[in-house]
Amino acid sequence: MAERPKLVLAMRPDILDLVLPAPLRARLDALADVHPDLVTDLADPGAARALADARLLLTGWGCPVLDAEALDRMPRLAAAVHAAGSVRHHATPAVWARGIAVSSAADANAAPVVEYTMATIWLASHRALGTAAAYVTGREPVFHLRQGADGATVGVIGASRIGRGVIGRLVGAAAGFQVLLADPYVGAAEADALGATLVGLDDLCRRSDIVTVHAPDLPETRHLLDADRLALLRDGAAVINSARGRLVDTDALARECGTGRIDAYLDVTEPEPLPAGHPLLLLRNVLVTPHIAGCQGSEVQRLGGYAVDEVERWITGQPLRGRVQAADLARIA
Ligand SMILES: NC(=O)c1ccc[n+]([C@@H]2O[C@H](COP(=O)([O-])OP(=O)(O)OC[C@H]3O[C@@H](n4cnc5c(N)ncnc54)[C@H](O)[C@@H]3O)[C@@H](O)[C@H]2O)c1
Repeated sequence: MAERPKLVLAMRPDILDLVLPAPLRARLDALADVHPDLVTDLADPGAARALADARLLLTGWGCPVLDAEALDRMPRLAAAVHAAGSVRHHATPAVWARGIAVSSAADANAAPVVEYTMATIWLASHRALGTAAAYVTGREPVFHLRQGADGATVGVIGASRIGRGVIGRLVGAAAGFQVLLADPYVGAAEADALGATLVGLDDLCRRSDIVTVHAPDLPETRHLLDADRLALLRDGAAVINSARGRLVDTDALARECGTGRIDAYLDVTEPEPLPAGHPLLLLRNVLVTPHIAGCQGSEVQRLGGYAVDEVERWITGQPLRGRVQAADLARIA
């Protein structure tokens, strides 16, 4: 039998067992010669021998940065497989310059974010937060006159993998949603094939009952929803942000929600976490969850499973499914 390639694991120690529970770890051990110690510091002299021999690196949340100095310690490294989403925090340009293959498990992290978004779209289409607030304060909520999901217009910002997942679910839903899409990388015909109507971002804000944000955090997406665009939203509209906090102007959103004119469902904020007592944490028409839309707890093994599949593909000479190219970084998460 051919010699198994040497593999080093590098991530936060507290997540290792969630990422690679025993059955996945056994699969990985069967595929590769896995260094027994988790590496958290690539300059650790105790890890020097293992790093020098490693052909594969399996990283996860909290892994060290792969800069030129670190890569000098791994001269044989051929692939860095990430059991998490974005690689931009650890995969520096030096990784691509050395021809190391980079893979991400962002596909596996997308599914729960799509579920989170669909759950919040349903709540938003029933104006659940405002109704619940009225219920608590004893004001009579006019339940059956409120907006329902049927025929609601949902504006999706970004046909990212998550955005596409949400569009697919909206198109297939019984409610008959109208779906608008704003994305500079998608043409009208492609949007049409997805089941959405391509519009400009201002138009999307004007026409949507619910706006859901799925674009990556890039220099040009900072405050994509700024004060002017939030002001375009219809009275009673809702903003959902499960992407990144920087995409929405926090102060402007707090002002709009503070008047009760619009509602918001936020899994991400800027800053994150919000300081105690922040208006967005106190308003009854705003729900803030602490960045929980992606894989959590028992779901984290989906990321490990995806990464182990990638290791197997690399070892058996198949193309990596989650391969990330340096050029992609200008438009991906
Ligand atoms: N809340 C969570 O736990 C969680 C988990 C995973 C991902 N996310 C976030 O969700 C978002 C989507 O992630 P993904 O992996 O689906 O992204 P992705 O990498 O698939 O997105 C890339 C696509 O976004 C679109 N895009 C790029 N620039 C745009 C712009 N200016 N306006 C509109 N669309 C644009 C393009 O279609 C591009 O191909 C990201 O912000 C990501 O960080 C959050």
